[in-house]
Amino acid sequence: MIIPLAEPLIDKQNANIIYEQVKSSFVGPGKKADEFASILSKVTNRKFAIPTTSGTVALSIAAKAMGLKRGDEILIPSYGVISVINSFTMIGLNPKLVDIKRENGCMDPDKIEKQISKKTKAVCFISFLGNIGNEIYETKKICKKYNLILIEDAAWSLGRSFKNKKGGSIGDIAITSFSVPKIITTGQGGAILTNSSKIKNKVIELIDQGGLNWRKTNNISSIGSNLRMSDINAALGISQLKNLNKRMLMKKKINKLFNSELPSFLVQTSDGIFPSQNVFFSKNKDKVIKKLREKGVMATSQYKVYSKLKAYEKIFRNKSFAIGNYWTKNAVYLPFGIGTKFDQFEFIIKEIKKLDI
Ligand SMILES: Cc1ncc(COP(=O)(O)O)c(C=O)c1O
Repeated sequence: MIIPLAEPLIDKQNANIIYEQVKSSFVGPGKKADEFASILSKVTNRKFAIPTTSGTVALSIAAKAMGLKRGDEILIPSYGVISVINSFTMIGLNPKLVDIKRENGCMDPDKIEKQISKKTKAVCFISFLGNIGNEIYETKKICKKYNLILIEDAAWSLGRSFKNKKGGSIGDIAITSFSVPKIITTGQGGAILTNSSKIKNKVIELIDQGGLNWRKTNNISSIGSNLRMSDINAALGISQLKNLNKRMLMKKKINKLFNSELPSFLVQTSDGIFPSQNVFFSKNKDKVIKKLREKGVMATSQYKVYSKLKAYEKIFRNKSFAIGNYWTKNAVYLPFGIGTKFDQFEFIIKEIKKLDI
């Protein structure tokens, strides 16, 4: 038995919806993507949601739409998914790292001010493990004080609610992702979330060849790319968004199981909801991962402190990120997909109990 890291939940109903969409012959970007956008804006309490081909491009486009320019500095957490640092570097921004909090992996607000320079124009806050607790609000306050743009990365916080605010509704602009491991997956996809119609139009220009009406006018006034989501992907997204709450409850149930069987074992979020990935610390990380894999449990290291990625080593030479390093050295990611069955999680827990963590 193999338990993958992130088994998605795609059922017969989802498959039928794709079949119906294909049969309709509307397979490119169109009305279904618009419908997906409309539902998504309600789920995230935003005026506008603009679906894209991935969360990574959503981050690049969000930064561009907010007016960030080549050479501008953007603060990002020291540790996390490669997509975040790449998305900004690809458009010529200079990411600067802020170390994270040991207890939940979020950017540490206490360490932000020290990193702000004259060139700093924005902060990208990753809701790590879905967390929309106090850290993002403290970051928001600092952004306000220094007049910085707050980009909220809500790739893992879709569907969450804390202090009457929804995941994706907190930053000046936000993005989310629908890649396979996420609570809603369109196979590949993302979205930009904003309350400003001006920014929405800018985003559309950037992801649709530079114009809002070019199909009618056969002309453009700015330059853009082609990064829109197709109706096939959107149809899959809609069919899952309809039972987002059920998906959230499944995650909650699994977190409860871990917490009753292995108290204080998994890293938890400060919003007290549930971690969207199952992570724990081990001083024997590599051995533990190897042993779990021998049992078919596809545990992994998942991320690295960005300063240790070969492509970025030179940029961050002589800089040390103690907590990012700690997570790199000790964090073990267990399967967390909602397609993973309850008894498979029971099996994982049984195997963990046998290990020297
Ligand atoms: C926090 C975060 N931001 C952005 C992304 C990028 O999303 P995508 O894989 O859809 O490009 C990911 C992907 O896992 C992510 O975890």
